Amino acid sequence: MKRLSIDLGDRSYDIRVGRRLLQQAGAWVTEITNPSRVVVITHPSINRLYGEKLSAGFSSAKVPIHCIEVPEGERSKSLQQAEKIYDRLLEWKCDRQTVLVALGGGVIGDLTGFVAATYVRGVPFIQIPTTVLAQVDSSVGGKTAVNHPRGKNMIGAFYQPKLVVADLETLESLPEKEFKAGLAEIIKYGVIEDAALFHYLENETQKILAHDDTALAHIVATSCAIKAKVVEKDERESHYRMVLNFGHTVGHAIESLTGYSSFIHGEAVAIGMVIAAKLSQAMGYCSVDVPRRIANLIEAFGLPTRLPNLQAEDIIQSIYLDKKTAHKKIRFILVKEIGSIEIVDDVAESLITEALGC
Ligand SMILES: NC(=O)c1ccc[n+]([C@@H]2O[C@H](COP(=O)([O-])OP(=O)(O)OC[C@H]3O[C@@H](n4cnc5c(N)ncnc54)[C@H](O)[C@@H]3O)[C@@H](O)[C@H]2O)c1
Ligand SMILES: [Zn+2]
Repeated sequence: MKRLSIDLGDRSYDIRVGRRLLQQAGAWVTEITNPSRVVVITHPSINRLYGEKLSAGFSSAKVPIHCIEVPEGERSKSLQQAEKIYDRLLEWKCDRQTVLVALGGGVIGDLTGFVAATYVRGVPFIQIPTTVLAQVDSSVGGKTAVNHPRGKNMIGAFYQPKLVVADLETLESLPEKEFKAGLAEIIKYGVIEDAALFHYLENETQKILAHDDTALAHIVATSCAIKAKVVEKDERESHYRMVLNFGHTVGHAIESLTGYSSFIHGEAVAIGMVIAAKLSQAMGYCSVDVPRRIANLIEAFGLPTRLPNLQAEDIIQSIYLDKKTAHKKIRFILVKEIGSIEIVDDVAESLITEALGC
């Protein structure tokens, strides 16, 4: 097991990465939080696969354990779903020593975190992420949210978990498409912060695609360490945390313009990273070698590199609508070399249009 920590003063916590961790999570949760009761929030399918393994770990601690199942999909990240969870917690008379456990992907993690931040003004919560994206991204850093009909993640709070347990065994049941989409976020960490990680991804592509134990443990733990470092510097995204948005400016626009149906998040981010790299070269931030290596690696992982049939104008309008764009300027995270980026605040529309090539 690899054990990392995220240092946020009295909100610091451990991130544990390895195999066969679900069975041990109960003992760790009990030790860290001393709970009056535990409520696991998950999807029915994940509960069937992993619920028993997780609850077995709590039985020796003799802590009452409940489970709430929520339907799969982004639609569950809603205030209505949160309210249903509050109803159950109140029905069971859950107090402030109740610990919520998120067992699932980013949808479960964001929803559970939001409920934990708000139920009786805050109860402790634990992240047990079961997708690559959740293990390397959404479970670490304390962003919690539900969606509003007018925008994704519009209602939320910064609220840190007490522990993150990333059990690599859970990835074995993950659909291949979801697995690969999560790899896009790992490529992102290499580009923004860690040339050695990027190099490792280039050299060990086949091992990673074959779910090799050592390779997976290495790339997941390294990614968590990078995310932890970024969050430690800028927990509430006042500026530096935006580096995590590399590839996301255009990625979000693609997701939104295709109605969140043609691409899953990591796939759209993969295309967005190719565009951001091209733009970086066009603006003289990097050599031609950088966009080439990024596109080659994305392709090697079986992720898309080409824009779907969209108009540059629509993409630019969609970027303006994105909540992360300050005032009327388009901000891009540009790459200088692999492992080093710059946040650039005022990128000309003409250059973006050129990089989009449509
Ligand atoms: N909080 C943050 O910092 C942050 C960062 C990035 C993304 N997010 C959010 O994360 C969400 C996306 O997360 P996601 O990609 O994990 O999607 P997800 O939670 O919807 O999971 C994807 C699919 O995989 C299934 N699944 C999960 N684990 C499985 C397993 N081990 N075996 C088989 N199937 C499994 C789920 O049921 C679902 O159908 C979005 O809502 C996004 O806004 C949050
Ligand atoms: Zn992302």
